[in-house]
Amino acid sequence: MQVLVIGNGGREHAILQALKKSKRVEKLYCMKGNAGTAEIAENVNVDYMDAEAVKQFALANPQIDYYVVAPDDPLAIGIVDELQSIGKRCFGPEKKAAIIEASKAFAKQFMHKYNIPTAKSATFEDYGEALEYIRKEGAPIVLKADGLALGKGVLVCETLKQAEEGLKDIMLNKSFGSAGNKIVIEECMKGLKYTPGEEVSVLAFTDGKTIKPMITSCDHKRSGDGDKGLNTGGMGTFSPCPFWTKELEKQVMDEIMIPTVKAMNAEGRTFKGCLYFGLMRTDKGMKVVEYNSRFGDPETQVVLPMLKTDLMDVFEAVTDGRLADIDIEWEEGACVCVVLASGGYPVSYVKGKEISIGDIGDCTLVHAGTAIKDGKLVTNGGRVLGVVAKGADVEEARKKAYAAVNNISWEGMQYRKDIGIKYREG
Ligand code: AMP
Ligand code: GLY
Repeated sequence: MQVLVIGNGGREHAILQALKKSKRVEKLYCMKGNAGTAEIAENVNVDYMDAEAVKQFALANPQIDYYVVAPDDPLAIGIVDELQSIGKRCFGPEKKAAIIEASKAFAKQFMHKYNIPTAKSATFEDYGEALEYIRKEGAPIVLKADGLALGKGVLVCETLKQAEEGLKDIMLNKSFGSAGNKIVIEECMKGLKYTPGEEVSVLAFTDGKTIKPMITSCDHKRSGDGDKGLNTGGMGTFSPCPFWTKELEKQVMDEIMIPTVKAMNAEGRTFKGCLYFGLMRTDKGMKVVEYNSRFGDPETQVVLPMLKTDLMDVFEAVTDGRLADIDIEWEEGACVCVVLASGGYPVSYVKGKEISIGDIGDCTLVHAGTAIKDGKLVTNGGRVLGVVAKGADVEEARKKAYAAVNNISWEGMQYRKDIGIKYREG
């Protein structure tokens, strides 16, 4: 088979690395890709947010059998629908199902309607009404711009003053653009043992009938050690989640995963692809923080390396509605990904710094923002590389990853030193 993955970052490189191991995949492409994807796939320079251009490319390249649409924004504009309309087979939800991530207001109303456990919330399009609600509820309180905002449209406000300023920013100053035309205001959930609450990402394959969760992982969204600093796209991940148990898995399956799949069908929005459950463990059990309509980044970087089953077999089983018939197997042990970022990320940073890579042992590099310039590997984004290590447990994988990190450098390189430590006592 010839397979094309849409997207440019670490997640896409990790998907390509997993597909590269497939016995059935003969050639890989990436639209548009980076310097890492170019080593294992042919990069295709087409704007994947231009539906017509993607369609024309697909028509001109009938040898490509299968498309994987990985990022949220092309899913939200219906790139899967476009490709399917010309007979192409795809992995990823159609536009009407991708709304589960693309609109936080939809997701919240959906969860409330079907009694799927989540924080209490209300949705507003009017600034005055939203302000009145915030004053009535008090702090702490969480504000969420409705639309896609590069993972940055969420403000967890400790004080009423912060909440009032945040509301003004989102709704009046449009700091997240039109994503802030509508706002979701949420109760701030508390973790069972940790502040801020303990979170786990569970990615799951679903064909709309069956749902099969992958191994669990934990992200580190803040830029600094100890979860301090600004929110980022994710500074590192580890798998599995230390507080995950069979009991939690059963609760999540019965109260969250199966009800979500059924409810999406009931809404006429059957979801096929990877459904991502961002969950928090609270004193009232597991609750949904957010849904994503896709693989997480950088969760994918620690989940897919542990997959023993051929990823292409899983993808096709999802597309063909045969997910119930296949066994998905995972390696024992743990995996850690440390993200190396440009100095100044997530605020402002310069690109084009030459990257030096020494001995990384048996770690794998996942490229996020890299390019080749004058024959040299250079930085080309905020998050640049992910260093991925496997081990018997998280601690062993962590040590290996950081040993490799010590042999990688460029001017201004920054990273978190504490990936894999949190929730350790379970
Ligand atoms: P999201 O983009 O929805 O994942 O939100 C980003 C982060 O904000 C989450 O990972 C949580 O740490 C935090 N967060 C979101 N909603 C809530 C909530 N209702 N209560 C507490 N923290 C939240
Ligand atoms: N790691 C969080 C996300 O992919 O949205």
